Amino acid sequence: MKAKKIFYCTECGNETVRWAGQCPACGAWNTVVEQPDKPARRTEVRSGGIRPRKARPISELSEDEEVRFPTGMGELDRVLGGGAVRGALVLIGGAPGIGKSTLMLQICGKLCEFSKVLYVSGEESERQIKLRAKRLRVEHENLYVVSETALGDVLECVDEEKPDILIVDSIQTLYKEGLDSTAGSVSQVRECALSLMRVAKERNITVFVIGHVNKEGGLAGPRVLEHMVDCVLYFEGDKHTSYRILRAAKNRFGATNEIGVFEMRDAGLSEVRDPSEILLSGRPTDVPGTCVTCIMEGARPVLAEIQALVATCPGGNPRRTSNGFDYNRAAMLLAVLEKRGGLRVSAFDAYLNIVGGLWVEEPAADLAAVLALASSYLDRAVSGDLAAVGEVGLTGELRSVDRLEQRVAEIHRLGFRQCVVPARRAERLREFPGLRLLPAKNIGEAIRAALGQRE
Ligand code: TYD
Ligand code: MG
Repeated sequence: MKAKKIFYCTECGNETVRWAGQCPACGAWNTVVEQPDKPARRTEVRSGGIRPRKARPISELSEDEEVRFPTGMGELDRVLGGGAVRGALVLIGGAPGIGKSTLMLQICGKLCEFSKVLYVSGEESERQIKLRAKRLRVEHENLYVVSETALGDVLECVDEEKPDILIVDSIQTLYKEGLDSTAGSVSQVRECALSLMRVAKERNITVFVIGHVNKEGGLAGPRVLEHMVDCVLYFEGDKHTSYRILRAAKNRFGATNEIGVFEMRDAGLSEVRDPSEILLSGRPTDVPGTCVTCIMEGARPVLAEIQALVATCPGGNPRRTSNGFDYNRAAMLLAVLEKRGGLRVSAFDAYLNIVGGLWVEEPAADLAAVLALASSYLDRAVSGDLAAVGEVGLTGELRSVDRLEQRVAEIHRLGFRQCVVPARRAERLREFPGLRLLPAKNIGEAIRAALGQRE
């Protein structure tokens, strides 16, 4: 059978079955070219690279294909779902300067103890890598470094060195010869990733690929690749603070709800084993407009500080801003506070912020947000030893949340002495010595419990 020709645009990567002078997707002229790879080869890559493809009964398939190994960074292993997997391609995305290269170079130290690692960099010279490795105290005879941007040469290097682990820094600097688009374009990024995927599957090499995410969208980023790779991790954090959070956006070998927390120090990234403690350090106490809650990041309870500012609005058009907290949820909580809590917040500007670069999606944080807002509005501080957990409903009622006991236990562990909880679940919670539970049925009761009676 004759293979069907496929054309694609070198600008935007859009695929068509017919050639055209102008790309129907992005409108660019003279950019549509024939796909050099035959579609048949693509199928091979997707299905794991074993040839010839023949369906077999599931009972005959071997189970020992998923071999895991630790990377030496517990926080990274956690996000990967319990270590890295042989033959998997992991994409590490993040803004430039966030610490992707640092993280990859650091794990080499441990990986080299039992495997051969090839670090390919198109971003830095070998000398620069050497200096950085020295600073990070990663020097091992099993670590091979090459500064290279041509995909063909990289693959040759893999052929020659036969590493167990390949690190590519970054996908945007790599280019495949024969494609007439520049490195970093959608088609280059996709073709290079496909080739690396093939290498990972055929040779059973674990491949880590770094991909920059930039806001302007000038470079084709990890999002273009999300569907084809095994695992996508995003490295996030505020450039102005030293904390970094690693999150999985996709993981074929595990859950995606775990986070890893790191701190960028002079000697590289260090793992933060107790994020709650860090996130609360330097917290202002006895100032109005802040309240602590406990959210779940995967299986791990983490304490988060919610800050609010309710300020007089000079125009007649109040502003609402939220950072790290869903905007619509914040608007709803303000409306409930007005209607059910009796606080006239609608005429005021309101700002909500989650400290430490966390993103709070859980309704369990509702109550703390409401208390922070009420505290700012009333200009009365929530006591520094008080935390709050609970979902707020539209009638102002407090609803229970999953794993309440685990959350309260974390609040207790960090030395809090009072915790506002939904009344319905309060009596079924176990005792926590030194921690007084303040059950509340609705936000009115919660505000009275946390901020006292209104004069
Ligand atoms: P880098 O890993 O180069 O970022 P990326 O690869 O994501 O672009 O990290 C660069 C930043 O990290 C830079 O601003 C310097 C800082 N840094 C440290 O603070 N300590 C260190 O030990 C290292 C290696 C980097
Ligand atoms: Mg880098």
